[in-house]
Amino acid sequence: MAAKRVLVTGASSGIGAATARLLAEQGWQVVAAARRLDRLEALAAEFAGYASSSTAGRSSTDLNQPPGEPLGEALVGRLSESTATEALQSDGAANAEGSTGGLTGDFTGRLADGSAGSIEPFELDITSDDSVASLVDYLKHSGGLDAVVNNAGGAFGLDPVAAGAVADWQHMYDINVLGTLRVAQSVLPLLRASVANVEAAGLGTRPAACADVVVVTSTAALAPYVGGAGYVAAKHAERVLATTLRWELAGEPIRVIQIEPGAVATEEFSLNRFDGDAARAAATYQGFEPLGAADIAEAIAWTLSRPPHVNIDHLVVRPVAQVSNWQTARA
Ligand SMILES: NC(=O)c1ccc[n+]([C@@H]2O[C@H](COP(=O)([O-])OP(=O)(O)OC[C@H]3O[C@@H](n4cnc5c(N)ncnc54)[C@H](OP(=O)(O)O)[C@@H]3O)[C@@H](O)[C@H]2O)c1
Repeated sequence: MAAKRVLVTGASSGIGAATARLLAEQGWQVVAAARRLDRLEALAAEFAGYASSSTAGRSSTDLNQPPGEPLGEALVGRLSESTATEALQSDGAANAEGSTGGLTGDFTGRLADGSAGSIEPFELDITSDDSVASLVDYLKHSGGLDAVVNNAGGAFGLDPVAAGAVADWQHMYDINVLGTLRVAQSVLPLLRASVANVEAAGLGTRPAACADVVVVTSTAALAPYVGGAGYVAAKHAERVLATTLRWELAGEPIRVIQIEPGAVATEEFSLNRFDGDAARAAATYQGFEPLGAADIAEAIAWTLSRPPHVNIDHLVVRPVAQVSNWQTARA
């Protein structure tokens, strides 16, 4: 089966990095996007062959001259070519426990049938119209897109409503809601073209003849908790965006999948939430075994691997000890 191309936002750390790794390992061509290009380049460098990629390390500011392949031709070409020509060297492959880590194992980036995945970094700020437009222009001229994982997001503060900083609420709404909206609506034409081109190329029997919009929300999208109102409100809004989009795409072979993680011990999420207070961040995960980024990456990959007639509307994944948003059994 030919490789499919997926955009993963927020791929410079945590869940996004783990998802980019796992999908590449499973043979996807991953466009890994976030603001910190150096971290994305380190992630991509885990796969041999990255250095020879002509597009490696491109940023939204140096994409005025996209590679120049029209979308349709590029996509059909991508579908018909063996990705083995871009095969990854397994020697010196990733140390999966790297600084953006979470996954373990030997990442050869190669499927059993020999087809290869890849990770391509792209500097992206989802709060910027221009940055997202540059990304879409680049994707359009470099082979199109079959799936997007809207993962970039985060929490800022854990304050009661009476004391919550308006700027924190604004930031959370900007990245979790408006950032997801900006990316999802901008790549939708590419996803539609992906499906249309598969059909036009006579490849409609290809097992994965559908496109995908994955949205990583949170268990905060389902129920509030004390101190969480700003994040909860933003994730509720993001959930509504995803659900409504699924309804609006009725009749189109585009799946909309929502992933709702509970507590995931990623290296930056709680640090960002508590403004760099490492002790407070660490306390979040003390006394129980939280999820790891790899757990959510596996959930995302599983939803994408379902047959094209199956849509996982939403998937709640919690640590066993975290029985609800307000009750975690700690030792
Ligand atoms: N960790 C948890 O417990 C948990 C639980 C439920 C849901 N979630 C959700 O899962 C997602 C990932 O969380 P995580 O734990 O992996 O957090 P994380 O490690 O802090 O990662 C957040 C990612 O978002 C990116 N990002 C932030 N602002 C951005 C912007 N303006 N433009 C582009 N990218 C931006 C960051 O990259 P740059 O800084 O390089 O841009 C980073 O890669 C978030 O949506 C979060 O709300 C997390």
